[in-house]
Amino acid sequence: MLNIAVYAKGGIIYLCPAFGIKRKDGKRCMMERVITLVDKLAGSRMLSGEEFIFLLDNIGEEEDAYLYGKARESALANYGNKIYVRGLMEFTNYCKNDCYYCGIRRSNQKASRYRLSPEQIMECCRIGYGLGFRTFVLQGGEDPWFTDEKIAYLVERIKKQYPDCAVTLSVGEKGYDTYKRWFDAGADRYLLRHETANPCHYASLHPPQMSSEYRKECLHNLKAIGYQTGCGIMAGSPYQTTAHIAQDLEFIHGLQPEMVGIGPFIPHHDTPFKDRPAGTLRQTLLLLAIVRLMLPDVLLPATTALGTIEPDGREQGVMAGANVVMPNLSPLEVRKKYMLYDNKISTGVEAAANIKELKNRMASIGYEVVTDRGDHKKIKSSPCP
Ligand code: 5AD
Repeated sequence: MLNIAVYAKGGIIYLCPAFGIKRKDGKRCMMERVITLVDKLAGSRMLSGEEFIFLLDNIGEEEDAYLYGKARESALANYGNKIYVRGLMEFTNYCKNDCYYCGIRRSNQKASRYRLSPEQIMECCRIGYGLGFRTFVLQGGEDPWFTDEKIAYLVERIKKQYPDCAVTLSVGEKGYDTYKRWFDAGADRYLLRHETANPCHYASLHPPQMSSEYRKECLHNLKAIGYQTGCGIMAGSPYQTTAHIAQDLEFIHGLQPEMVGIGPFIPHHDTPFKDRPAGTLRQTLLLLAIVRLMLPDVLLPATTALGTIEPDGREQGVMAGANVVMPNLSPLEVRKKYMLYDNKISTGVEAAANIKELKNRMASIGYEVVTDRGDHKKIKSSPCP
Protein backbone atom coordinates (compact mmCIF):
# COMPACT_ATOMS: atom_id res chain seq x y z
CA MET A 1 0.00 0.00 0.00
CA LEU A 2 1.30 3.44 -0.88
CA ASN A 3 1.89 5.34 2.29
CA ILE A 4 1.08 8.97 1.62
CA ALA A 5 0.02 12.00 3.54
CA VAL A 6 -1.89 14.89 2.01
CA TYR A 7 -1.09 18.50 2.88
CA ALA A 8 -3.10 21.43 1.63
CA LYS A 9 -1.36 24.77 1.96
CA GLY A 10 -2.00 27.97 0.07
CA GLY A 11 -4.38 26.25 -2.32
CA ILE A 12 -1.78 23.67 -3.37
CA ILE A 13 -2.18 20.03 -2.47
CA TYR A 14 1.02 18.12 -1.76
CA LEU A 15 1.10 14.36 -1.85
CA CYS A 16 3.96 13.41 0.44
CA PRO A 17 5.28 10.04 1.46
CA ALA A 18 4.51 9.60 5.13
CA PHE A 19 7.04 10.13 7.91
CA GLY A 20 10.50 8.84 7.11
CA ILE A 21 10.08 7.93 3.44
CA LYS A 22 12.13 10.11 1.11
CA ARG A 23 11.28 11.05 -2.44
CA LYS A 24 12.54 13.56 -4.95
CA ASP A 25 10.59 16.53 -3.70
CA GLY A 26 11.23 15.39 -0.12
CA LYS A 27 12.33 18.79 1.10
CA ARG A 28 8.93 20.32 0.47
CA CYS A 29 7.32 17.34 2.19
CA MET A 30 9.58 17.70 5.18
CA MET A 31 8.69 21.36 5.46
CA GLU A 32 5.01 20.58 5.32
CA ARG A 33 5.33 17.92 7.96
CA VAL A 34 7.34 20.23 10.22
CA ILE A 35 4.77 23.01 9.86
CA THR A 36 2.00 20.52 10.60
CA LEU A 37 3.81 19.44 13.77
CA VAL A 38 4.31 23.04 14.90
CA ASP A 39 0.59 23.65 14.37
CA LYS A 40 -0.25 20.47 16.24
CA LEU A 41 1.98 21.51 19.15
CA ALA A 42 0.42 24.97 19.22
CA GLY A 43 -3.05 23.45 19.21
CA SER A 44 -2.78 20.43 21.47
CA ARG A 45 0.31 21.52 23.47
CA MET A 46 1.97 18.15 23.18
CA LEU A 47 3.57 15.85 20.64
CA SER A 48 4.60 12.24 20.92
CA GLY A 49 8.27 11.44 21.49
CA GLU A 50 8.65 10.42 17.85
CA GLU A 51 7.05 13.64 16.69
CA PHE A 52 9.37 15.75 18.85
CA ILE A 53 12.36 13.88 17.44
CA PHE A 54 11.11 14.36 13.90
CA LEU A 55 10.53 18.05 14.51
CA LEU A 56 13.96 18.61 16.08
CA ASP A 57 15.79 16.57 13.44
CA ASN A 58 14.06 18.06 10.45
CA ILE A 59 13.14 21.63 11.17
CA GLY A 60 15.02 23.78 8.69
CA GLU A 61 15.88 27.42 8.99
CA GLU A 62 12.93 28.21 6.72
CA GLU A 63 10.52 26.94 9.36
CA ASP A 64 12.23 28.51 12.38
CA ALA A 65 10.50 31.84 11.89
CA TYR A 66 7.14 30.09 11.79
CA LEU A 67 7.83 28.29 15.08
CA TYR A 68 9.19 31.42 16.78
CA GLY A 69 6.21 33.43 15.56
CA LYS A 70 3.75 30.92 17.02
CA ALA A 71 5.64 30.89 20.33
CA ARG A 72 5.76 34.67 20.45
CA GLU A 73 2.02 34.87 19.78
CA SER A 74 1.45 32.46 22.65
CA ALA A 75 3.58 34.52 25.07
CA LEU A 76 1.81 37.70 23.97
CA ALA A 77 -1.61 36.11 24.48
CA ASN A 78 -0.68 35.07 28.03
CA TYR A 79 1.58 37.84 29.33
CA GLY A 80 1.20 40.63 26.77
CA ASN A 81 4.39 42.44 25.81
CA LYS A 82 5.59 42.48 29.43
CA ILE A 83 9.04 41.30 30.39
CA TYR A 84 9.55 40.35 34.02
CA VAL A 85 12.90 40.96 35.64
CA ARG A 86 14.55 39.15 38.54
CA GLY A 87 17.45 40.46 40.55
CA LEU A 88 19.99 37.64 40.65
CA MET A 89 22.26 37.39 43.68
CA GLU A 90 24.97 34.76 43.30
CA PHE A 91 25.72 34.57 46.99
CA THR A 92 28.22 31.70 47.18
CA ASN A 93 30.37 29.91 44.64
CA TYR A 94 31.43 27.14 47.02
CA CYS A 95 29.97 23.85 45.82
CA LYS A 96 30.20 20.32 47.13
CA ASN A 97 29.18 18.87 43.78
CA ASP A 98 31.49 18.03 40.93
CA CYS A 99 29.35 18.34 37.81
CA TYR A 100 31.58 17.83 34.79
CA TYR A 101 30.32 20.90 32.95
CA CYS A 102 30.40 23.50 35.70
CA GLY A 103 33.17 26.01 36.39
CA ILE A 104 32.46 26.17 40.14
CA ARG A 105 32.64 22.37 40.58
CA ARG A 106 34.41 21.20 43.71
CA SER A 107 37.48 19.94 41.84
CA ASN A 108 38.21 23.25 40.22
CA GLN A 109 41.03 24.41 42.47
CA LYS A 110 41.52 27.50 40.38
CA ALA A 111 38.10 28.95 41.22
CA SER A 112 38.46 31.81 43.66
CA ARG A 113 35.79 31.10 46.27
CA TYR A 114 33.58 33.64 48.04
CA ARG A 115 30.48 33.95 50.19
CA LEU A 116 28.33 37.04 50.62
CA SER A 117 27.40 38.05 54.14
CA PRO A 118 23.74 38.63 55.08
CA GLU A 119 24.51 42.36 55.14
CA GLN A 120 25.90 42.25 51.61
CA ILE A 121 22.83 40.33 50.46
CA MET A 122 20.48 42.84 52.11
CA GLU A 123 22.41 45.66 50.47
CA CYS A 124 21.92 43.99 47.06
CA CYS A 125 18.18 43.82 47.78
CA ARG A 126 18.10 47.48 48.79
CA ILE A 127 19.77 48.51 45.55
CA GLY A 128 17.62 46.13 43.54
CA TYR A 129 14.39 47.36 45.09
CA GLY A 130 15.34 50.93 44.19
CA LEU A 131 15.92 49.84 40.60
CA GLY A 132 12.42 48.30 40.42
CA PHE A 133 13.14 44.64 41.07
CA ARG A 134 10.32 42.82 42.87
CA THR A 135 11.84 39.35 42.73
CA PHE A 136 15.14 38.45 44.36
CA VAL A 137 16.84 35.24 43.36
CA LEU A 138 19.27 33.70 45.82
CA GLN A 139 21.42 31.43 43.71
CA GLY A 140 24.50 29.56 44.85
CA GLY A 141 26.53 26.41 44.68
CA GLU A 142 25.61 23.64 47.12
CA ASP A 143 27.53 25.17 49.99
CA PRO A 144 27.13 23.36 53.33
CA TRP A 145 28.31 26.50 55.17
CA PHE A 146 24.88 27.93 54.36
CA THR A 147 22.90 25.64 56.63
CA ASP A 148 19.13 25.27 56.37
CA GLU A 149 18.82 27.76 59.26
CA LYS A 150 20.98 30.36 57.56
CA ILE A 151 18.99 30.16 54.33
CA ALA A 152 15.69 30.30 56.24
CA TYR A 153 16.98 33.35 58.10
CA LEU A 154 17.90 35.08 54.82
CA VAL A 155 14.51 34.35 53.29
CA GLU A 156 12.69 35.64 56.39
CA ARG A 157 14.78 38.75 56.53
CA ILE A 158 14.22 39.62 52.87
CA LYS A 159 10.48 38.91 53.05
CA LYS A 160 10.13 40.98 56.22
CA GLN A 161 11.88 43.97 54.72
CA TYR A 162 10.29 43.62 51.27
CA PRO A 163 6.87 42.00 51.75
CA ASP A 164 5.83 42.99 48.25
CA CYS A 165 8.67 41.00 46.70
CA ALA A 166 9.01 37.37 45.72
CA VAL A 167 12.03 35.34 46.79
CA THR A 168 13.36 32.61 44.53
CA LEU A 169 15.83 30.06 45.83
CA SER A 170 18.28 28.18 43.63
CA VAL A 171 20.59 26.26 45.94
CA GLY A 172 20.35 22.72 44.68
CA GLU A 173 19.16 19.38 45.97
CA LYS A 174 17.71 19.16 49.49
CA GLY A 175 15.26 16.92 51.31
CA TYR A 176 11.53 17.58 51.52
CA ASP A 177 11.72 18.96 55.06
CA THR A 178 14.32 21.53 54.15
CA TYR A 179 12.36 22.72 51.14
CA LYS A 180 9.25 22.90 53.32
CA ARG A 181 11.06 24.87 55.97
CA TRP A 182 12.22 27.45 53.44
CA PHE A 183 8.76 27.63 51.90
CA ASP A 184 7.31 28.28 55.35
CA ALA A 185 9.95 30.96 55.84
CA GLY A 186 8.44 32.72 52.82
CA ALA A 187 10.28 31.47 49.74
CA ASP A 188 7.98 31.63 46.71
CA ARG A 189 9.88 29.94 43.91
CA TYR A 190 12.64 27.42 43.40
CA LEU A 191 14.90 26.84 40.42
CA LEU A 192 16.49 23.44 39.97
CA ARG A 193 17.29 22.46 36.42
CA HIS A 194 16.86 18.74 35.94
CA GLU A 195 19.77 19.00 33.40
CA THR A 196 18.57 15.93 31.48
CA ALA A 197 15.69 13.54 32.06
CA ASN A 198 17.63 10.57 30.69
CA PRO A 199 19.43 8.70 33.51
CA CYS A 200 22.24 7.54 31.25
CA HIS A 201 22.84 11.02 29.85
CA TYR A 202 22.63 12.38 33.41
CA ALA A 203 25.38 9.98 34.43
CA SER A 204 27.59 11.26 31.62
CA LEU A 205 27.31 14.82 32.93
CA HIS A 206 27.58 14.12 36.67
CA PRO A 207 29.68 12.06 39.06
CA PRO A 208 28.17 8.80 40.35
CA GLN A 209 27.05 10.36 43.65
CA MET A 210 24.36 12.29 41.78
CA SER A 211 21.33 10.76 40.13
CA SER A 212 18.63 11.87 37.81
CA GLU A 213 16.06 10.01 39.97
CA TYR A 214 16.86 12.11 43.04
CA ARG A 215 16.92 15.30 41.00
CA LYS A 216 13.42 14.53 39.72
CA GLU A 217 12.24 13.61 43.20
CA CYS A 218 13.42 17.02 44.42
CA LEU A 219 11.42 18.72 41.69
CA HIS A 220 8.28 16.74 42.52
CA ASN A 221 8.73 17.65 46.19
CA LEU A 222 9.08 21.32 45.35
CA LYS A 223 5.86 21.21 43.33
CA ALA A 224 4.03 19.31 46.06
CA ILE A 225 5.07 21.87 48.68
CA GLY A 226 3.65 24.68 46.57
CA TYR A 227 6.68 26.43 45.15
CA GLN A 228 6.52 27.95 41.71
CA THR A 229 9.02 25.46 40.44
CA GLY A 230 11.56 25.70 37.65
CA CYS A 231 13.34 22.87 35.89
CA GLY A 232 15.43 23.03 32.74
CA ILE A 233 18.34 21.89 30.64
CA MET A 234 21.36 23.14 28.76
CA ALA A 235 20.93 23.13 24.99
CA GLY A 236 23.72 21.23 23.28
CA SER A 237 25.21 19.70 26.42
CA PRO A 238 27.82 16.98 25.76
CA TYR A 239 26.34 13.67 24.54
CA GLN A 240 22.87 15.18 24.18
CA THR A 241 20.75 13.68 21.40
CA THR A 242 17.37 14.67 20.04
CA ALA A 243 15.96 11.56 21.71
CA HIS A 244 17.18 12.92 25.06
CA ILE A 245 15.55 16.25 24.33
CA ALA A 246 12.29 14.49 23.50
CA GLN A 247 12.50 12.83 26.93
CA ASP A 248 13.19 16.21 28.52
CA LEU A 249 10.11 17.64 26.88
CA GLU A 250 8.04 14.69 28.12
CA PHE A 251 9.42 15.16 31.62
CA ILE A 252 8.67 18.88 31.54
CA HIS A 253 5.16 18.19 30.32
CA GLY A 254 4.61 15.72 33.15
CA LEU A 255 5.98 18.04 35.83
CA GLN A 256 4.07 21.11 34.59
CA PRO A 257 6.64 23.52 36.06
CA GLU A 258 5.88 27.22 36.42
CA MET A 259 9.35 28.11 35.09
CA VAL A 260 11.77 26.51 32.67
CA GLY A 261 15.41 27.56 32.36
CA ILE A 262 17.09 26.80 29.06
CA GLY A 263 20.46 28.14 27.98
CA PRO A 264 23.22 26.85 25.73
CA PHE A 265 25.99 24.71 27.20
CA ILE A 266 29.22 26.70 27.12
CA PRO A 267 32.52 25.01 27.97
CA HIS A 268 34.61 26.15 30.92
CA HIS A 269 38.37 25.83 30.47
CA ASP A 270 38.96 24.22 33.88
CA THR A 271 36.42 21.40 33.55
CA PRO A 272 36.49 17.95 31.92
CA PHE A 273 34.29 19.35 29.15
CA LYS A 274 36.69 22.13 28.23
CA ASP A 275 37.06 20.93 24.63
CA ARG A 276 33.42 20.22 23.98
CA PRO A 277 31.57 22.42 21.50
CA ALA A 278 29.12 24.94 22.90
CA GLY A 279 25.40 24.65 22.27
CA THR A 280 24.15 27.05 19.65
CA LEU A 281 21.85 30.03 19.66
CA ARG A 282 19.51 28.23 17.28
CA GLN A 283 19.27 25.05 19.37
CA THR A 284 18.36 27.21 22.35
CA LEU A 285 15.79 29.31 20.52
CA LEU A 286 14.08 26.22 19.10
CA LEU A 287 13.76 24.74 22.59
CA LEU A 288 12.49 27.98 24.10
CA ALA A 289 9.82 28.19 21.41
CA ILE A 290 8.79 24.55 21.81
CA VAL A 291 8.52 24.92 25.59
CA ARG A 292 6.45 28.08 25.20
CA LEU A 293 4.01 26.23 22.95
CA MET A 294 3.87 23.28 25.32
CA LEU A 295 3.32 25.41 28.43
CA PRO A 296 1.75 28.65 27.19
CA ASP A 297 1.82 30.39 30.56
CA VAL A 298 5.29 29.26 31.68
CA LEU A 299 7.76 31.86 32.96
CA LEU A 300 10.60 31.47 30.50
CA PRO A 301 13.87 33.36 30.91
CA ALA A 302 16.12 34.52 28.12
CA THR A 303 19.19 33.38 30.04
CA THR A 304 22.60 34.87 30.68
CA ALA A 305 24.18 32.05 28.70
CA LEU A 306 22.07 33.05 25.68
CA GLY A 307 23.32 36.63 26.07
CA THR A 308 26.86 35.28 26.37
CA ILE A 309 26.93 33.38 23.07
CA GLU A 310 25.26 36.20 21.13
CA PRO A 311 25.16 39.93 21.97
CA ASP A 312 21.45 40.17 21.16
CA GLY A 313 20.72 36.61 22.32
CA ARG A 314 18.22 37.72 24.94
CA GLU A 315 16.25 39.80 22.47
CA GLN A 316 16.18 36.82 20.13
CA GLY A 317 15.03 34.70 23.07
CA VAL A 318 12.11 37.05 23.67
CA MET A 319 11.25 36.91 19.98
CA ALA A 320 11.10 33.11 20.36
CA GLY A 321 8.74 33.19 23.35
CA ALA A 322 10.82 34.07 26.44
CA ASN A 323 9.31 36.58 28.89
CA VAL A 324 11.80 36.87 31.77
CA VAL A 325 15.28 38.34 32.15
CA MET A 326 17.47 37.93 35.23
CA PRO A 327 20.05 40.70 35.50
CA ASN A 328 22.92 40.35 37.93
CA LEU A 329 22.56 42.14 41.28
CA SER A 330 25.66 40.65 42.93
CA PRO A 331 28.39 43.03 44.11
CA LEU A 332 30.72 43.87 41.24
CA GLU A 333 33.79 42.43 42.99
CA VAL A 334 32.40 38.86 43.09
CA ARG A 335 30.67 38.70 39.73
CA LYS A 336 33.64 37.42 37.78
CA LYS A 337 34.05 34.64 40.34
CA TYR A 338 30.70 33.03 39.59
CA MET A 339 32.10 31.62 36.36
CA LEU A 340 29.94 28.64 35.49
CA TYR A 341 31.31 28.79 31.93
CA ASP A 342 33.88 30.80 29.98
CA ASN A 343 33.20 34.48 29.27
CA LYS A 344 29.98 34.55 31.30
CA ILE A 345 28.72 38.10 31.00
CA SER A 346 27.99 40.07 34.16
CA THR A 347 28.36 43.70 33.15
CA GLY A 348 26.72 45.92 30.53
CA VAL A 349 23.07 45.10 30.00
CA GLU A 350 23.53 42.01 32.19
CA ALA A 351 24.11 44.21 35.25
CA ALA A 352 20.98 45.06 37.22
CA ALA A 353 22.31 48.61 37.61
CA ASN A 354 21.94 49.04 33.84
CA ILE A 355 18.26 48.21 33.78
CA LYS A 356 17.66 51.36 31.74
CA GLU A 357 19.67 49.92 28.89
CA LEU A 358 17.76 46.65 29.21
CA LYS A 359 14.50 48.61 29.06
CA ASN A 360 15.65 50.40 25.92
CA ARG A 361 16.73 47.20 24.25
CA MET A 362 13.46 45.47 25.05
CA ALA A 363 11.53 48.58 23.92
CA SER A 364 13.38 48.42 20.59
CA ILE A 365 11.75 45.04 19.91
CA GLY A 366 8.35 46.15 21.21
CA TYR A 367 8.51 44.86 24.81
CA GLU A 368 8.17 46.59 28.16
CA VAL A 369 10.22 45.72 31.25
CA VAL A 370 7.87 45.97 34.22
CA THR A 371 8.20 46.45 37.98
CA ASP A 372 6.19 43.47 39.12
CA ARG A 373 6.63 40.27 41.08
CA GLY A 374 5.89 38.52 37.82
CA ASP A 375 4.22 35.44 39.25
CA HIS A 376 3.04 32.56 37.13
CA LYS A 377 -0.47 33.26 35.83
CA LYS A 378 -2.03 30.49 37.88
CA ILE A 379 -0.57 31.72 41.18
CA LYS A 380 -2.59 34.23 43.13
CA SER A 381 -0.44 37.08 44.42
CA SER A 382 0.04 37.15 48.17
CA PRO A 383 -2.23 39.60 49.96
CA CYS A 384 0.79 41.54 51.25
CA PRO A 385 0.97 45.25 50.37
N1 5AD B 1 27.30 26.07 30.42
C1 5AD B 1 26.03 26.47 30.48
N2 5AD B 1 25.27 26.39 31.59
C2 5AD B 1 25.87 25.88 32.69
N3 5AD B 1 25.38 25.65 33.91
C3 5AD B 1 26.37 25.16 34.68
N4 5AD B 1 27.49 25.04 33.95
C4 5AD B 1 27.20 25.48 32.71
C5 5AD B 1 27.92 25.57 31.51
N5 5AD B 1 29.19 25.18 31.42
C6 5AD B 1 23.96 25.81 34.24
C7 5AD B 1 23.38 24.49 34.74
C8 5AD B 1 22.94 24.84 36.14
C9 5AD B 1 22.75 26.33 36.08
C10 5AD B 1 22.83 27.03 37.38
O1 5AD B 1 23.81 26.75 35.25
O2 5AD B 1 22.28 24.09 33.94
O3 5AD B 1 21.75 24.19 36.53
